[in-house]
Amino acid sequence: MSEQKKSIFDNPLTFLAASYPYLFVVLLGIGIVYVKNLGTVNENSLPARMFDSTTIVKELPVSDPAILTAVDAAMMKKPSDELIAKGKEIYATSCASCHGADGKGDGAAGVALNPKPRNFHTNDGWTNSPDLTGMWKTLQEGITKNGMAAYDVLPADQRLGLIHYIRNNFMTDPPAITDATIKEIDEKYQLTKGTFKPGTIPVSGAVSFLEREDAELVKKLDTALKSLESKSKSDAGAKLFLGAVVDKKIALSFLLSNEDWKDGTESFLKVIKRNLNGNGFKYIVFSMEESEVDKMFNYLKSSL
Ligand code: HEC
Repeated sequence: MSEQKKSIFDNPLTFLAASYPYLFVVLLGIGIVYVKNLGTVNENSLPARMFDSTTIVKELPVSDPAILTAVDAAMMKKPSDELIAKGKEIYATSCASCHGADGKGDGAAGVALNPKPRNFHTNDGWTNSPDLTGMWKTLQEGITKNGMAAYDVLPADQRLGLIHYIRNNFMTDPPAITDATIKEIDEKYQLTKGTFKPGTIPVSGAVSFLEREDAELVKKLDTALKSLESKSKSDAGAKLFLGAVVDKKIALSFLLSNEDWKDGTESFLKVIKRNLNGNGFKYIVFSMEESEVDKMFNYLKSSL
């Protein structure tokens, strides 16, 4: 065999050595293409999974239904000194951090906010309004997009104390509270009627409660409605009941879900009063003659 016929393929080692430069160039090429397209590579990889906190169901605390203190026109114009003192206390603990101890909108917690927390000393540029209705609206609904939270958990009388504390101490020229203002605010928010706060039970509890109670309650309600229909002309108590309710179904299911009222007319009125607005009865119940309440009570007790 002559020397010329030797080729690199004859010796595997020579072959490997000869291919290294090519291999190097190919790998380098792949590397460059990869680095250039790093953005696309990342884009196409799986998106990061964000934890969705909105799916966490917070359990409601158990709380009894209640009528929050009703306020009257006089209180809206001038709450008691105790209420204003209470307002001062609430201001110091809940508002001063943003609105400043002197109401100038310069509290430490408000520096990063835009718009700045309101300076109560000027009447210009309020989002709602510096009058009673506007301030009530702010506390009821908040201006959440601007960082002002709602304070609707404050009972109506304390809210008035707070508003008047701000008016008396920080506002240079607070808009007058006229009868028209009071009418307007009462029409919007029914302050003089008292705010009804429905009771709450934990969601999980409510679901199992409904599953258990619903079928039975629906059956009882059906019977009660039929009896009411048949007696609505003949029985004075049934007639009185129909006149005393906004919604007979709601009123009947309210009475069916609660036995306390059956002790006597006094308990009956008490139970209704405790939950007026939410139980289907009208205020008329409290101006009815004793004998009428008796008749209505006797009818209901015998039919439910
Ligand atoms: C986290 C900071 C912060 C706290 C705490 C806070 N506020 Fe505010 N408040 C703001 C900001 C910000 C604005 C400005 C919103 C705007 O101009 O729309 C504002 C505006 C207001 C306004 C004027 C609304 C209008 O019509 O322009 C009132 C009234 C008010 N707050 C009352 C209160 C009261 C009362 C409290 C305490 C119970 C309170 N705020 C607590 C940040 C706060």
